[in-house]
Amino acid sequence: MPHSVKAVVALAKGQPVSIETIEVPDPGPGEVLIDVKACGVCHTDLHYREGAINDEFPFLLGHEAAGFVEEVGEGVTNVAPGDFVILNWRAVCGQCRSCQRGRPWLCFNTTTATQKMTLNGQELSPALGIGAFAEKTLVAAGQATKVNPAARPEVAGLIGCGIMAGLGAAMNTGQVSRGDSVAVFGCGGVGDAAIAGAHLAGAHTIIAVDLDDRKLEIAKEFGATHTINSSNQDPVEAIRALTGGHGVDVAIEAVGLPVTFEQAFYARDLAGTVVLVGVPNPEMKIELPLIEVFGRGGTLKSSWYGDCLPSRDFPMLIDLYLQGRLDLDRFVSETIALEDVEEAFHAMERGEVLRSVVVMDK
Ligand SMILES: NC(=O)c1ccc[n+]([C@@H]2O[C@H](COP(=O)([O-])OP(=O)(O)OC[C@H]3O[C@@H](n4cnc5c(N)ncnc54)[C@H](O)[C@@H]3O)[C@@H](O)[C@H]2O)c1
Ligand SMILES: [Zn+2]
Ligand SMILES: [Zn+2]
Repeated sequence: MPHSVKAVVALAKGQPVSIETIEVPDPGPGEVLIDVKACGVCHTDLHYREGAINDEFPFLLGHEAAGFVEEVGEGVTNVAPGDFVILNWRAVCGQCRSCQRGRPWLCFNTTTATQKMTLNGQELSPALGIGAFAEKTLVAAGQATKVNPAARPEVAGLIGCGIMAGLGAAMNTGQVSRGDSVAVFGCGGVGDAAIAGAHLAGAHTIIAVDLDDRKLEIAKEFGATHTINSSNQDPVEAIRALTGGHGVDVAIEAVGLPVTFEQAFYARDLAGTVVLVGVPNPEMKIELPLIEVFGRGGTLKSSWYGDCLPSRDFPMLIDLYLQGRLDLDRFVSETIALEDVEEAFHAMERGEVLRSVVVMDK
């Protein structure tokens, strides 16, 4: 019997989201039905609502989620009913050319549930193949990673996207290590996670850049040693001044704009690394003198999901959290109900929150 559940759906481009009753099928082979407990509001959900990802409306939004496995389909062995899991959008296939080369964290063919969730018979497009602003959701078994249930769902869920993306941008993609200097452009949930990741990895200078002083204050709590408000000073010059005139070893762009990418490009030292974790929209372009790309050397990298491997990284990050070495509680600005997601987008746009997190029993 399919399950009728309450969910947040984006019906049309740029329109406010609405609460709908959707149909979630019972799990088929390789699928898992999740009783969602919490799901964070990520900027990527807003990108979907604005039509900036693709036009496959209606979208079932939400993808930073944790919950319990309610039912498993045939052949599922990695999780069982009752397991506490974080959902991920990188269920590695094991077959694609990247997996075959031993790089599953870049899997080019990640799997999602085969059956579709529907609204009045119309197929829904789940955000990032998850769709967890819903009381229940259906995912591929590999999208559910079992973690220690001692972690609160509203905290654990955040590891499923923004926190992993930011931490991984610093630790995996940027390979930040002991003694590095790092600058992070954009101090939302993703940027602050990059700051926390740089701090955990042993960076000695961590420079936070944002347009909003409130964000910069919070960035210090995650380990920023210096802050720059780029609305009233040139961040490239300020970063050079803080690094002996040279620039940082690793510059992480966590906004998704050409202007901040360019700042990151020029704010790094010779042979340094730029990591793009912010998601640009399809119209955005950058223009850089090719001689600067060559002459400055180093590496320009994009970070998809923090180059994470959920089965390796999620349980490890939950353990660090439970040991008090990674402050995930600080990312939860407020807990809200499903009905409040549209308002949470506005709070995000106004810069008032790091993460609003939907909790189902609110
Ligand atoms: N690559 C990935 O796998 C991945 C995963 C999750 C999110 N993202 C992307 O990361 C980006 C950040 O996500 P978020 O949830 O932290 O968003 P957010 O809206 O919470 O944070 C963005 C921050 O950037 C700041 N900002 C805006 N314009 C700026 C500018 N010109 N200079 C400096 N700071 C500026 C804002 O004040 C805000 O603090 C988004 O583009 C999101 O889609 C990427
Ligand atoms: Zn693969
Ligand atoms: Zn996200």
